[in-house]
Amino acid sequence: MERTLILLKPDCIQRRLVGAIVQRFEQKGLRLAGMKLVQVSHSLAEQHYAVHKGKPFYESLLQFLTSGPTLALVLEGREAVAVARSLIGATDGTKAAPGTIRGDFALSVQNNLIHGSDSPENAAAEVALWFKPEELVSYQPVDSSWIGGR
Ligand code: RTP
Ligand code: MG
Repeated sequence: MERTLILLKPDCIQRRLVGAIVQRFEQKGLRLAGMKLVQVSHSLAEQHYAVHKGKPFYESLLQFLTSGPTLALVLEGREAVAVARSLIGATDGTKAAPGTIRGDFALSVQNNLIHGSDSPENAAAEVALWFKPEELVSYQPVDSSWIGGR
């Protein structure tokens, strides 16, 4: 079953939106496979956002991600990567569609509450960057034949 890495960034923790946002993924049918609160180091932030190195917003982005605790989640389910991205919405909160997480809770481009992996390949690499194998669990929720089927 596909997995994706989600980060609830420092603004999400500071604004006490963790419960409201995790609820959206749970009610969609994605299940939690890992969850931990992390004070992100500069080095982890650099590795996570390496693809953006050199862009004008890169240094500010690293400062933001290391400015307070971040909640890292692994979510599992059918098409988890694409489904999570569509629930998250466009990067810029002012452009994100109403009904998406950023559309409903964010007005900023940088402080947009949440990260979601953008491809299954990147998801696998990001899950390995943020979690040790023993920090992840595999289980079959009792309602999975209703929710997770074709
Ligand atoms: P993410 O990687 O965090 O899920 O966000 P994304 O795919 O929607 O957007 P991406 O282009 O990968 O940008 C990564 C994060 O950098 C910050 N950002 N700031 N122009 C700016 O100031 C700017 N552009 C991007 C945001 O925090 C964005 O989520
Ligand atoms: Mg991205």
